[in-house]
Amino acid sequence: MPLTQSREISAASRLENVRYAIRDLACVADEVIAQGHKVLPLNIGDPNVFDFQTPPHMIEAVYKAMRDGKNGYSPSSGVKPALDSIRGEAARKGITNIQDVFITSGVSETVDICLAALLNPGDNLLTPCPDYPLYSAVLAKLDLKLNAYYLNEEDGWQPDLEDIRKKITPRTRGIVLINPNNPTGSVCTRKMLEEIAELARRHNLVIFADEIYDKLIVDDDPHVAMAAVAPDVPVITFGGLSKNYLAPGWRIGWGIASGEASVIKPYVDGINKLLRARLCANHPEQYAIPAALDGPQDHLVEVKRKLRSRRDLTQKWCEDTPRVSCIAPRGAFYAYPKIDIPEGDEIFVRELIRQKHVMVVHGSGFGQKPRTQHFRIVFLPEEQTLTKAYAGIAEFIGERYGNS
Ligand SMILES: Cc1ncc(COP(=O)(O)O)c(C=O)c1O
Repeated sequence: MPLTQSREISAASRLENVRYAIRDLACVADEVIAQGHKVLPLNIGDPNVFDFQTPPHMIEAVYKAMRDGKNGYSPSSGVKPALDSIRGEAARKGITNIQDVFITSGVSETVDICLAALLNPGDNLLTPCPDYPLYSAVLAKLDLKLNAYYLNEEDGWQPDLEDIRKKITPRTRGIVLINPNNPTGSVCTRKMLEEIAELARRHNLVIFADEIYDKLIVDDDPHVAMAAVAPDVPVITFGGLSKNYLAPGWRIGWGIASGEASVIKPYVDGINKLLRARLCANHPEQYAIPAALDGPQDHLVEVKRKLRSRRDLTQKWCEDTPRVSCIAPRGAFYAYPKIDIPEGDEIFVRELIRQKHVMVVHGSGFGQKPRTQHFRIVFLPEEQTLTKAYAGIAEFIGERYGNS
């Protein structure tokens, strides 16, 4: 009789702190879909689910790479033509003092590697609140506690410098800045970047500048790169093809390490150790990087035209709807309205899916100040879908809480 194991295999206890509200809500939506309803998806930050397509010349470049036999492993940091293009793009953004560039399976992997290469047990990293949940998930994997600083809603969601100052400890090794921001859609001022750089200098911090949405500034204002403002400070700038170039499924991201060589070198060596350990990023897709960064940028005009119209529709709805208020988003494709309701925003979101079949994500899934409630809207869907969804949300708020 073969031996069968009967004791349960438990998952690591550190996973208790891993939350990914965006995908965790899917089970509620599945219930609604099983009842035969269509769910309006204002929760998915994937442009390709809506009327946005990967530029054809990028697809051609990947196809050609596959035909040309670029199907084996690539060097661990990435292929030279792609690394050269990333350096060229960084130079256009005013980033100098570059010490290394590396390509990964999406920014998700850059974050995983860069945090793992830096942090020891007991160290901490300042992360924004609200935040994109990847950061807290990676910290949980490393068994590290969160050290979150607030973004200040009263100040257009700019980082709260006072709060950052208060939270720096002798074990703080770095700070994450998401700019343009997910989930608030805010864009940092140059002055704010300078102030954060000054704090980094004073406390010997690494700045992780997540700039994955840098070409999606809805009103066409220029984007200022953190590394360009602070060439002397250790900065890892994150970028990729998922958002600006509408290819999230290709899993291509990168990191640009800048700062004084003598200061950043041991850390960059650590990053490269981990890059080698995981072999390489998707090889043929790396050839889309030169096509994307050095090729035609026409798609961006169309993408921003759509985003502007959808952002304006969203903002007007927020202004016209009782119990809802919102700082107008300036970049990326997210709005993060505040709601004045007498119950938690997770209940709000779950009931909204069940009753009106509209899917947004609750503020508590991203973090927020105590006694405030929010929800995140992805305004990528077409105007018709947004209008229908907003009518459903307004109706839900009126029926459940009343209009005053
Ligand atoms: C702020 C931010 N960083 C990183 C990522 C992950 O990007 P990637 O698809 O390159 O892994 C996302 C995805 O939504 C994001 O919003």
